[in-house]
Amino acid sequence: MLRADFAIRHAGRLLTMEARRDDPYGTILDGALAAFLGRVVWVGPDARFEANVALAGDAVDAGGCLVTPGLVDAHTHPVFAGSRADEFAERLSGVAYADQQGGERGIQRTVLATRAASEDDLVCLAVERAHRFLAHGTTTIEAKTGYGLDLEQERKLLRVLRRLAALTPLRVIPTFLGAHVVPRGVDRATYVRTIVEEMLPAFRHQARFCDVWCDAPAFTAAESRAILRRARELGYGLRMHAAQLGPGEGPSIGAELAAASVDHLEYATPAQVQALAAAGTTAVLCPGAALTVPGSPRPPLDALREYGVPVAIASDLNPGTCNSESLTFAMSAACVLWGMTPAETLIGATRGGARSLGLEGEAGRLGPGHAADCAIFDLEAPEEIPYHVGVNRVKTTVVGGRVVTPP
Ligand code: NIG
Ligand code: FE
Repeated sequence: MLRADFAIRHAGRLLTMEARRDDPYGTILDGALAAFLGRVVWVGPDARFEANVALAGDAVDAGGCLVTPGLVDAHTHPVFAGSRADEFAERLSGVAYADQQGGERGIQRTVLATRAASEDDLVCLAVERAHRFLAHGTTTIEAKTGYGLDLEQERKLLRVLRRLAALTPLRVIPTFLGAHVVPRGVDRATYVRTIVEEMLPAFRHQARFCDVWCDAPAFTAAESRAILRRARELGYGLRMHAAQLGPGEGPSIGAELAAASVDHLEYATPAQVQALAAAGTTAVLCPGAALTVPGSPRPPLDALREYGVPVAIASDLNPGTCNSESLTFAMSAACVLWGMTPAETLIGATRGGARSLGLEGEAGRLGPGHAADCAIFDLEAPEEIPYHVGVNRVKTTVVGGRVVTPP
């Protein structure tokens, strides 16, 4: 008998996400799950629960609903102040996102608002966003800095992320994105030197990953390489925003440095995709951002499939290109915009995201040893998740064997 202090009973379908030959979801019909001290100890058919599990405590009755692993969002920018709704509207009437990046607009505008905000105010804003993530079934996020862009301001944003993780049940994996853009008024070479010589060493124990945006409005191939190489020497995992707005060397650099993830990839070439496959890099796709940057091409999905690159789907929550904490909305967008299958998008929002974060064995699946993080959807079949476009069908979110939503 397995000892348990938490259980979910009567899941119409419980998706372990342990792929089987004929079933990418690892479905258990009329399933149940048991956990002890926050970890899954048993999953199986509900009819076998009593024979296997000694439960001290109450079980959550899923009432025939669909149970999935808690969603893993591998690309978010949750620490910012201010709004850019006017820029969103402007893009719809034909202004390009890249053309909004000059002067005090675009990312620079969010940097000004975020610098002006107190740490406590940023914590409050981030906590509200965390609650929206949890309400939409997301239990783990990768969370970037990138709106401070100097040593003290980036340090402030990393402190906000630490406080966010302590204040909410959401699991937060911090990424240092000092290389988001060159801040206004600072010479490029000086800024790159500051990142390499001061920020990267200073934040080594505050951030698990280092991210660089390699695209025309941001960093060149040479700058990106220099920053990422130094980050790798210091022990950071590597992520990139690359080939989002135009073709370029970004994805090749990600492959060359065996980055954990290369994200966006709208303009990546099939040869670059092949290199990413060989490097074992996860492609993190951000369909919500593509949706609000008019003219964004479909990422090279045929090549990603052909070469077997692991894919994650992410919300890319940020004030510029996608102000949404809903990963299920991103799944719908990936299906509708790009013709991804519902199965590809759920894999991307669970085990694909976990893989890109080095959390395999921890998140994104429901098997013994994994964190007992689950989303219970008021739905029957996995295809219904992206099918219900823009509607939140998550009834209950569980983190570490504890119901966190509704509170
Ligand atoms: O992932 N491309 C760069 N970074 C974000 C947008 C940030 C912003 O516009 O504030 C993205 O799309
Ligand atoms: Fe982003």
